[in-house]
Amino acid sequence: MKALSLNGVTKAFGGLVAVNDVTLGVEAGSIHGLIGPNGAGKTTLFSLITGFYRPTAGRVELNGEDVTPLSTSLRARKGLVRTFQGTVLFPDQTVAQNIANGLLAIGRGSWSDWFIESSAYKHAQQEEVEKLLTFSRLTDLRNASARDLSHGQQRVLGIAIALAAAPKVLLLDEPFTGMTASEKDRLVEMLQDIRKNGTTIVLVEHDMRTVMRLCDVITVLNFGRVLTEGTPEHVRRHPEVMSAYLGTTA
Ligand SMILES: Nc1ncnc2c1ncn2[C@@H]1O[C@H](COP(=O)(O)OP(=O)(O)OP(=O)(O)O)[C@@H](O)[C@H]1O
Ligand SMILES: [Mg+2]
Repeated sequence: MKALSLNGVTKAFGGLVAVNDVTLGVEAGSIHGLIGPNGAGKTTLFSLITGFYRPTAGRVELNGEDVTPLSTSLRARKGLVRTFQGTVLFPDQTVAQNIANGLLAIGRGSWSDWFIESSAYKHAQQEEVEKLLTFSRLTDLRNASARDLSHGQQRVLGIAIALAAAPKVLLLDEPFTGMTASEKDRLVEMLQDIRKNGTTIVLVEHDMRTVMRLCDVITVLNFGRVLTEGTPEHVRRHPEVMSAYLGTTA
């Protein structure tokens, strides 16, 4: 079953077609890589999937439901959640407060204020914060200000905030950027755990070693189009993929 399907998705910015007739399916429970050279259209495709941009043409389906007309927040409530290429945090707040904010952002849309102010809600929220701290291995840093975390830890916190939204499909835009080798290893484990818990992951990433070891299927974008799609082994052996990265494929 496909968790996410794109059908002929196209986005033009004036004369520039950043995403051009992209059709692809993301299998439920998979880690699906999306790679391609700078400017290939990866981040734009994420913005189309989440509804930040409306497509010039084409359709986005979440678990078989056409979500193309829906707003970003409606899609998020249906389980379609992204992180951004740069980390978005409240720098002066603690790690735990940042996660609590993530939970509140979800609650605000669907529950009334009196419920959010109630002690039952606050208790449930605290438990959820603890679970997310443990899961993302940030418990020891719970009282640290977000701004004092290492770059890699801030990225993990960004993912923990996204997890607060209980995503069914989680879109990660270059989460490994700027991480040390051991931070990368830990994030690889965390993403595998997220998948084990039933969340489908779409991963945009330039770090090829990490992409190859994590992903079940990889789609390669070049100039807004799908160049090829398949297993890491297929992509590794595809002659046009290397030339796309070297800038010799038009
Ligand atoms: N809002 C916008 N207005 C005009 N052009 C845009 C806009 N957003 C992106 N583009 C252009 O669309 C193309 C695709 O950009 P995009 O950011 O999606 O690439 P990317 O694959 O994410 O690249 P990178 O690997 O560098 O993050 C680029 O040529 C970019 O300049
Ligand atoms: Mg990008």
